[in-house]
Amino acid sequence: MRGIIGLLFFATFVVTGSLAAVLGVDYGQQNIKAIVVSPQAPLELVLTPEAKRKEVSGLSIKRLPGYGENDPNGVERIYGSAVGSLATRFPQNTLLHLKPLLGKSLEDETSVTLYLKEHPGLKMASTNRSTIAFVVDNVEYPLEELVAMNIQEVVNRADSLLKDRDARTVDSVDKISLTIPDFFDQHQRNALLDASLMTTDIKDTYLVSEGMSVAVNFFLKQRQFPPGELQHYIVYDMGSGSTKASMFSILQPEDITEPVTIEFVGYGYNPHLGGGKFTMDIGSLIENKFLETHPAIRTDELHANPKALAKINQAAEKAKLILSANSEAAINIESLFSDIDFRTSITREEFEEFIADSLLEIVMPINGALSEQFGDYKTNLSDVNGVILAGGSTRIPIVQEQLLKLVSEERILRNVNADESAVNGVVMRGIKLSDSFKTKPLNVIDRSVNTYSFRSSNQSELHDVFVRGSVYPNKTSILSTEADPTTKNFTIDLFENGKLLETVTVNSPAATSSYSFKKCPSGVVYNITFGLSSDRLFSIQEVNYICRKEDDENESKQPKNKSNRLNFSSEDVEIKRLSFSEISCLREHMQLLDKQDKERFQLQKNLNILESNLYDARSLLMDDEVVQNGPKSQVEKLSEMVKVYLDWLEDASFDTNPEDIISRIREVGILKQKIELYLESSKEPLNLQQFKGMLEEGRKLLQAIENHKNTVEEFLSEFETEFADTIDNVREEFKNTKQPAYVSKALSTWEETLTSFKNSISEIEKVVAKNSFGEDLRERLFEIKLEFDMYRTKLEEKLLLRKSGDESRLTEIKKLHLRKFRLQRRKEEKLQRKLEKEQRGGENETEAVGNNSTDDKSAFFSDKTTESNPTSKEEILHDEL
Ligand SMILES: *[C@@H]1O[C@H](CO)[C@@H](O)[C@H](O)[C@H]1NC(C)=O
Ligand SMILES: *[C@@H]1O[C@H](CO)[C@@H](O)[C@H](O)[C@H]1NC(C)=O
Ligand SMILES: *[C@@H]1O[C@H](CO)[C@@H](O)[C@H](O)[C@H]1NC(C)=O
Ligand SMILES: *[C@@H]1O[C@H](CO)[C@@H](O)[C@H](O)[C@H]1NC(C)=O
Ligand SMILES: *[C@@H]1O[C@H](CO)[C@@H](O)[C@H](O)[C@H]1NC(C)=O
Ligand SMILES: *[C@@H]1O[C@H](CO)[C@@H](O)[C@H](O)[C@H]1NC(C)=O
Ligand SMILES: *[C@@H]1O[C@H](CO)[C@@H](O)[C@H](O)[C@H]1NC(C)=O
Ligand SMILES: *[C@@H]1O[C@H](CO)[C@@H](O)[C@H](O)[C@H]1NC(C)=O
Ligand SMILES: *[C@@H]1O[C@H](CO)[C@@H](O)[C@H](O)[C@H]1NC(C)=O
Ligand SMILES: *[C@@H]1O[C@H](CO)[C@@H](O)[C@H](O)[C@H]1NC(C)=O
Repeated sequence: MRGIIGLLFFATFVVTGSLAAVLGVDYGQQNIKAIVVSPQAPLELVLTPEAKRKEVSGLSIKRLPGYGENDPNGVERIYGSAVGSLATRFPQNTLLHLKPLLGKSLEDETSVTLYLKEHPGLKMASTNRSTIAFVVDNVEYPLEELVAMNIQEVVNRADSLLKDRDARTVDSVDKISLTIPDFFDQHQRNALLDASLMTTDIKDTYLVSEGMSVAVNFFLKQRQFPPGELQHYIVYDMGSGSTKASMFSILQPEDITEPVTIEFVGYGYNPHLGGGKFTMDIGSLIENKFLETHPAIRTDELHANPKALAKINQAAEKAKLILSANSEAAINIESLFSDIDFRTSITREEFEEFIADSLLEIVMPINGALSEQFGDYKTNLSDVNGVILAGGSTRIPIVQEQLLKLVSEERILRNVNADESAVNGVVMRGIKLSDSFKTKPLNVIDRSVNTYSFRSSNQSELHDVFVRGSVYPNKTSILSTEADPTTKNFTIDLFENGKLLETVTVNSPAATSSYSFKKCPSGVVYNITFGLSSDRLFSIQEVNYICRKEDDENESKQPKNKSNRLNFSSEDVEIKRLSFSEISCLREHMQLLDKQDKERFQLQKNLNILESNLYDARSLLMDDEVVQNGPKSQVEKLSEMVKVYLDWLEDASFDTNPEDIISRIREVGILKQKIELYLESSKEPLNLQQFKGMLEEGRKLLQAIENHKNTVEEFLSEFETEFADTIDNVREEFKNTKQPAYVSKALSTWEETLTSFKNSISEIEKVVAKNSFGEDLRERLFEIKLEFDMYRTKLEEKLLLRKSGDESRLTEIKKLHLRKFRLQRRKEEKLQRKLEKEQRGGENETEAVGNNSTDDKSAFFSDKTTESNPTSKEEILHDEL
């Protein structure tokens, strides 16, 4: 938690925009972590429904009964830890660890093969955008939608967290800051952005590099850096799917009031090495052992069985965690294959031997970060101040061992929380990028690990625009003379690391009326403006053609070049983004599923409530007290009800009418309460004497009401004569004097309560008159008493309010009278003075005009300037009435 406190200190929560919330999400291959920040929740970790700090990355989709075979709406989604166990029972329905497939096509064999090996049984398809979709129970889900479902689920939890903090809040998450590996290319970035765009009510999404997130969090925790000395750190981040080493420099200027600068200076990575790979390795060990003990089973038979493979993977994951702290892990898989239970064990030694060939890969990213530094940076490892460990897989002993061979123990920094450092950093970057809250200034210099270039239509040479190591966001304009303007539209191809991303078609200037070849005797140049956004997306922002005028030797005579903006359209090559209409379609579908899930959840909750209430009722019915002294008829009724409803519950399911459940809950509750009250009533005499006493009390209360009415009436009559000169209609004024809202609300039901109370009294009178008391009537008598008590309490409360309300109304009237009275007197005095002046002569014209007004308002204003005791605004309004 210390990290959070540190962050709090850093950000002062001054809302600069509308009330809204930023969600920082560390979207990992295996887990998702999130922190929400809003005026209600300053940096709060979004816990899972099971109160865990991280959520499983993925979900299960299961068909619901009662829907058509292909109905895309007839499904239920399951998130969280339940997904883990579903993976072995329903591997074809469980979509885990989707991150490495974002922005990929089925042609990407490495990613697809690796994925299917880890997640057997799933059916993939290619979308018409060449991206991957999964087919689950005959419904095709584009990958972006599945990722969006995961993000949406986190957003929903964050929103309900905000509601928990303050039920009246209107805050909800509208901005998301997502971690992204630096090695993710433009297609992968677009896919993640599209997923975020699909979530409901998200206005902005920021993609923040994972390495920078950890570096920012490290800076916030460390805080103290030697002024004027450039420091170097490497963030070594081994997650589940990939391993990255990002080198940063941190500079605290000599003048320590100046902001610190964090700069990204080198990068190395392996997109397939990570905890997931080690799990697969242990899985292979288990598989080998199983096949050795059961030679009759062929490898391909085992590999064709998704459930068996999912069970092996699950056992391997568990063993991996155990081997981080122990030298041996027991493996115990029930019904692994054709009902064979399998027991074995894996030692840490076996595992380390198994991966011996790839041990060097572990530190390769660090070597990469050192050898592939951006620009002119040439820091050697001995100049690196520390290696910061991030990512859960850095806890694996063999990983630490390898790191220690390269870097000494004291330079391995474990002061950031390996699991949460990225999410802590990404939310801080989100706050900064969205400008939602004020934060202490911090210069962040991000650099691109890829090179972006372009090619214009008529030649094959690539021109670099932003080379590897370029700072972004950035924008730059390049003049090109390559395209022929006179005839056709021309194209500009955009590349990332030499790979074609998109083709931009620029409308020929010949099509624009302003173009005339004659007017540009020295030809045409194109001014192409390229951008690299803060999400590191490369695009063309603007294309202008410049009509060159004759080159005049005389500089000052040279006419101005004419520049014209050209229209253009761009199209992704091969892997395409979702269109806006597709995104909104998918969003609507997700919203529908969300609504259904919510209704089902509520239904299930109500079924559970009904069930537990029925069991409560059943144990009440078995209580000795109830058996011996309970109200016979009601006890019978309830026991019948419990029996019938428990039977009914057996068959209740998702298509049960929700109203039905609620009314049953209510029925059981009312009956149970009646029985309990009856038992309580055994302490009551319920005889003639008690009822006579009640009558007495009732009459007293009615009398008190009458007395109050009379008192008010006396005052009003008195006021009517006394205030005749100042207040036209005292009773009207009394009625119209405002009361506090809680008073008028309580008194709005005065008459109803009074009537009910009187009815209750006449009930009692009847009982007393007939003298009908006795054991067999107790149930009814007790009901009468309860009712009387209830209305008496209500009425007493209301009377109290009424008394204080009327009292303050009368006071108001008195005050009103005094104010009006003083006003009249002042007017008279003024008139008096005026008359005196007129009599004296030499009247000042202007003053006479100023005073020529007799209405209250202007009298008041002149009064305000002269009186030393200014009247409040409320009273002005009152006088104007
Ligand atoms: C792909 O198919 C969807 C309908 O499923 C359609 O809306 C979309 O325009 C198509 N996209 C492309 C690039 O063909
Ligand atoms: C760091 O590398 C430079 C050459 O790039 C070398 O001159 C210097 O001695 C190295 N420093 C250390 C401490 O190895
Ligand atoms: C922006 O990019 C251009 C072209 O790569 C480069 O010359 C310029 O220095 C960059 N600007 C900044 C602020 O990095
Ligand atoms: C490309 O365009 C330039 C400028 O318009 C022109 O001079 C050149 O001949 C063109 N090259 C080809 C191969 O069309
Ligand atoms: C140029 O492109 C525009 C649309 O981008 C199109 O309307 C126009 O017909 C094209 N002109 C030629 C000559 O291809
Ligand atoms: C090219 O276009 C950019 C963006 O409109 C502009 O800032 C720049 O001045 C232009 N360059 C020339 C030489 O006209
Ligand atoms: C350029 O033109 C200005 C006036 O238009 C003239 O005064 C000057 O002498 C000229 N210079 C040259 C080098 O022709
Ligand atoms: C006009 O364009 C040409 C070619 O780009 C350039 O050399 C010249 O300086 C420009 N003149 C003005 C006034 O911008
Ligand atoms: C009365 O009029 C005189 C000019 O005749 C002026 O100077 C003075 O301010 C006026 N007095 C008041 C109270 O307005
Ligand atoms: C005073 O007001 C009345 C009506 O508002 C008007 O008839 C009269 O002429 C006014 N007298 C002066 C001195 O302005």
